[in-house]
Amino acid sequence: MEEAIKAAANAIKNADHLLITAGAGMGVDSGLPDFRGNEGFWRAYPIARKLGLSFAQLANPRWFDEDPHLAWAFYGHRLHLYRDTEPHDGFQKLLDIAKSKKDYFVFTSNVDGQFQKAGYDPLKMWEVHGSIHHLQCTVPCSRRIWSADGVNVEIDENFRAKDPLPACPNCGSVARPNILMFGDYSWIEDRSAEQEARFESFLNRAKNLAIIELGAGTAVPTVRMTGERIARAFGAPLVRINPREPQGADIQIPLGAKEAIERIAEAIEEG
Ligand SMILES: NC(=O)c1ccc[n+]([C@@H]2O[C@H](COP(=O)([O-])OP(=O)(O)OC[C@H]3O[C@@H](n4cnc5c(N)ncnc54)[C@H](O)[C@@H]3O)[C@@H](O)[C@H]2O)c1
Ligand SMILES: [Zn+2]
Repeated sequence: MEEAIKAAANAIKNADHLLITAGAGMGVDSGLPDFRGNEGFWRAYPIARKLGLSFAQLANPRWFDEDPHLAWAFYGHRLHLYRDTEPHDGFQKLLDIAKSKKDYFVFTSNVDGQFQKAGYDPLKMWEVHGSIHHLQCTVPCSRRIWSADGVNVEIDENFRAKDPLPACPNCGSVARPNILMFGDYSWIEDRSAEQEARFESFLNRAKNLAIIELGAGTAVPTVRMTGERIARAFGAPLVRINPREPQGADIQIPLGAKEAIERIAEAIEEG
C-alpha cells in the first residue's frame, strides 16, 4: 500500500496536466450513498426494493410520464440530499494539487454537483450524465435547460412527491432533471455537449498528463473505460482509488477517496 501511495504521488507530482475522473464512490466519505449493486441501491432507497425496481429500472424517464410523483420522490430526495451535503476534505486537498498544475479537468458520471460545491471551476468539468441541479421539460417543448436552484420537492411518508411538481416554465408540463437516464429518449444533451467540447480542448492541450480516478464502479463503466482509454492514448499513468474494486490500473489504491487523497497529498509534500 505504501508503495502504491508513493507511486501515485510521484506520478501526480511529475505531471503538468491532471485529469480527475470520478464516480459515486467519491462522495461516500461525504456521507452519500453509492448504488453499488441492487443491495447498495435498495439500502439507499427501500421503496425501490418494495416495488421490485433496480436502479436502472427506476432511473428511467418513463416514470415521469407514468408516475411523476414517484419519479420526483426519487429525484427530489436526491436533489435535496446532494444540495445539503458538504464535500469531504479530500475534494479541497485534491483541488489544491490540481491548481498547482498547468491545468486540470474533471470527468465524472456523478450528477451531484459536489465538485462545483467544493470550489472546482465549472468550466473545467464534464458531467457526462448531466446534473441534478439542472432541469428540462419532459416533452420536451424546447431545448431549454434551467437551474434547479430554489426548486423544492416535498415527499410524503409513502415516498411520493407532493404537488405541485416542478414544471416547465414554457409549457407547464412536468419538468425532469437534466440527467441522462437509462433508456433515455428525451435527454437534452446541450449542456453536457458544451462541457465535452471544453474537455476535448483540454485534451488537445494536455502534455505530460496523469489521471487520478476515484470511486468509479464497474456496473456502469463509463468513467473507468474513459480513463483507461485516455491513459493508453497519452501513455499517461492511471491511479485508481477504490476500496473494493481497484484492479485494472497501473497504480491501484484500495482505500476510500478521502484517506487516499490525504495520504497522496502528504507523500507529495514529503518528497
Ligand atoms: N452521486 C451521484 O451523482 C451518483 C450516485 C449514484 C449513482 N450515480 C449514477 O449511477 C451510475 C453509478 O456508477 P458509479 O460507478 O459512479 O457508482 P457505483 O455505485 O456503481 O460504484 C461506486 C464505486 O465506488 C467505490 N467506493 C465505495 N466507497 C468508496 C469510497 N469511500 N471511496 C472511493 N470509492 C468508493 C465502490 O467500490 C464502487 O466501485 C452512474 O451512471 C452515475 O451517473 C450518481
Ligand atoms: Zn415544456
